Amino acid sequence: MSGTTEIRSDVFWLGARHFDLKIFDELFPTRNGTTYNAYLIRGEEKTALIDTVKAPFTREYLQNVERLAGDRGVDYVVVNHTEPDHSGALDKVLERYPQATVVCTRPGENFLRQIFNHPMKTHIVSEGEEIDLGGRTLKFFLAPYLHWPDTMFTWLPEEKLLFSCDAFGAHFCSETLFDDETPDFSGEFTFYFDSIMRPFKEKVREAVAKVENLSIDMILPSHGPLIRRDVQAKIDAYRRLSAAPQDTGRKRALLLTLSPHGNTRDMAHYVREGLESQGVEVEERAIITVENQELRDLIESTDALIMATPTINRDAPPPVWQALSLLTTVAPRGKLGAVFGSFGWSGEAVKMVEERLAGLKYNLPVPGIHFRFKPTEDDQIACREFGRKVGQALQG
Ligand SMILES: [Fe+2]
Ligand SMILES: [Fe+2]
Repeated sequence: MSGTTEIRSDVFWLGARHFDLKIFDELFPTRNGTTYNAYLIRGEEKTALIDTVKAPFTREYLQNVERLAGDRGVDYVVVNHTEPDHSGALDKVLERYPQATVVCTRPGENFLRQIFNHPMKTHIVSEGEEIDLGGRTLKFFLAPYLHWPDTMFTWLPEEKLLFSCDAFGAHFCSETLFDDETPDFSGEFTFYFDSIMRPFKEKVREAVAKVENLSIDMILPSHGPLIRRDVQAKIDAYRRLSAAPQDTGRKRALLLTLSPHGNTRDMAHYVREGLESQGVEVEERAIITVENQELRDLIESTDALIMATPTINRDAPPPVWQALSLLTTVAPRGKLGAVFGSFGWSGEAVKMVEERLAGLKYNLPVPGIHFRFKPTEDDQIACREFGRKVGQALQG
């Protein structure tokens, strides 16, 4: 379902409502669907579109553009972010308005070339550059990694509107348009940050610093309600959610264990002694007792990740892989890793988990160790030594 709403004089929302979407990008569950928010701005001389919509909504979107742009047509299509949920109608827009210039970042232009596989007329913007539409100015701020390397914000100073694309968005679809007429979506707002922005916290901090002193009456994201009541609160929330973890002055290691018969956890006991002998503070958790959200927080607030995994049927068990799958969704403070575990018949898991960590650019300063069944006294010594060496590397 699409529609148009004039949000300021000659500034229109013309997005699409995707009520029945259950899982965004086949990755993130959406309890209330989502919207693809796109905009049209009519200056005295030029008309600009800000982003488009997902491909299945192209027909209605284009009809709305034609109605609002009228005979003047479209001069610019600002592509704040090239992901197909926002560039899905771009091809059809350019077919209809071949004279229009696509305005994007340099990485954006690269991505467009590879998404559409044909040339288009582009203008690559630099930080702070402006385009005059006649009485209306578009000013661009690069915001890489919010959500892709290509991303930028567009600010319309005369109306104090910030078009932030994915940033400050939420997957929440409602009949209403603005935050002050929509049911509470704060849970969706935070879940969206955790799903999409969290791995790029440092970049979020940089982007927030660029916009926090701008005059902004409304933040107009590309998903979910448009923000006019809680502008400052949303900027504060992004600042808080992206804050760097506090440095306690001590090195901290997260020791995650999975131990069906207690042997791997026995090993962990001695590894922990070795770590603590080097002054390392150890957060030890049984993987199955930790919810994903707490695990993400722990990974981000510690300097090392030490995985204690058994081998079952020649593999690390699913909870270990599940825990490892969270690593790409966070911004770890340190990327030092180590792996050990007990096994019964064969011991493939330690090597497999080491390979996974190495693939994620973790530094593995001490080769993994594994022992059969219950650790002997010699094994216990080896575990302490393993922990001591990892601790030493961590203290570096
Ligand atoms: Fe995106
Ligand atoms: Fe998006």
